[in-house]
Amino acid sequence: TMQTFYDKNSFSKYIAELKEKKKKIGFAPTMGALHAGHISLYQEAQKHNDIVISSIFVNPTQFNNPEDLEKYPRTIEEDIKKLGDSKLVDAVYIPGVEDIYPNGMERKHYDFGGIENEMEGAARLGHFDGVGTVVEEFFRQVQPDNAYFGEKDFQQLKIIEKLVEVLDLKIKIHGVKIHREEGGLAMSSRNMRLSEDERHASTIIYRTLNHVNSWFKSIPINDIKNRVEEIFSKENMELEYFLIADEETLKESAVSSNGRNYRAFIVVNVGKVRLIDNLHLD
Ligand code: PAJ
Repeated sequence: TMQTFYDKNSFSKYIAELKEKKKKIGFAPTMGALHAGHISLYQEAQKHNDIVISSIFVNPTQFNNPEDLEKYPRTIEEDIKKLGDSKLVDAVYIPGVEDIYPNGMERKHYDFGGIENEMEGAARLGHFDGVGTVVEEFFRQVQPDNAYFGEKDFQQLKIIEKLVEVLDLKIKIHGVKIHREEGGLAMSSRNMRLSEDERHASTIIYRTLNHVNSWFKSIPINDIKNRVEEIFSKENMELEYFLIADEETLKESAVSSNGRNYRAFIVVNVGKVRLIDNLHLD
């Protein structure tokens, strides 16, 4: 059965015992409101580790918008049940703010070589410093061998790869494919704030990404952008950004060059819900 820890003290003792026994630890942090996309991280972790650890912590320092933080769904009882029922997770760590931020809620500042200034970094100032701060602290407390992050937040995944590099942590970072609902909408904790109509309308996002993939080989990127803007101008939702970027630098590309990998990135606001998605282009 799954163990549940609510404070740093008891959790650290548990980790010390695992380390003593030389167990290989796989870890994936979350902010709760769990769905099948989160569970897919633990499916992956279970394949390559002796022990699988989850965490649930809504991290205040990564929210640039107080309303977003306040409205963030919190479903802790259901989350614990889902993790237990999955039979994939050995322990879940649900710390209090004082366990993560003993010296007050401050974000550290990181130099991730520039990728932190693109896309979500530009749209949400301070966001990736907040993510770096909380994930560094979790990595120090959990001491995992492997850690799993979803490609749904592709820029975040790249930031975490960079984080372990700049901190010189011996943790292997794994990216996990985007888990989608039947209509193609990327699963997200925020989806539960969509009405039935909005949820249905939002399937246009993934359909559009697939169109982009089919156009990528033969149509100039600028024309692709115009087509995407045209599609969303007819929808009752706001296209915040759409761009095609190099997967390594995350810089927007106006033209593609051979031997580089590209990915389409999109953010759409449906009512007050901010939806993020991306697709590798081939
Ligand atoms: P959260 O949004 O809860 O996501 C936790 C992890 O689940 C992230 O790695 C995210 O990319 C992954 N994930 C979410 N939806 C997914 C989907 N549909 N398919 C695959 N993976 C998915 O991301 C965060 O929390 C926070 O920033 C965190 C890393 C926990 C730091 O606070």
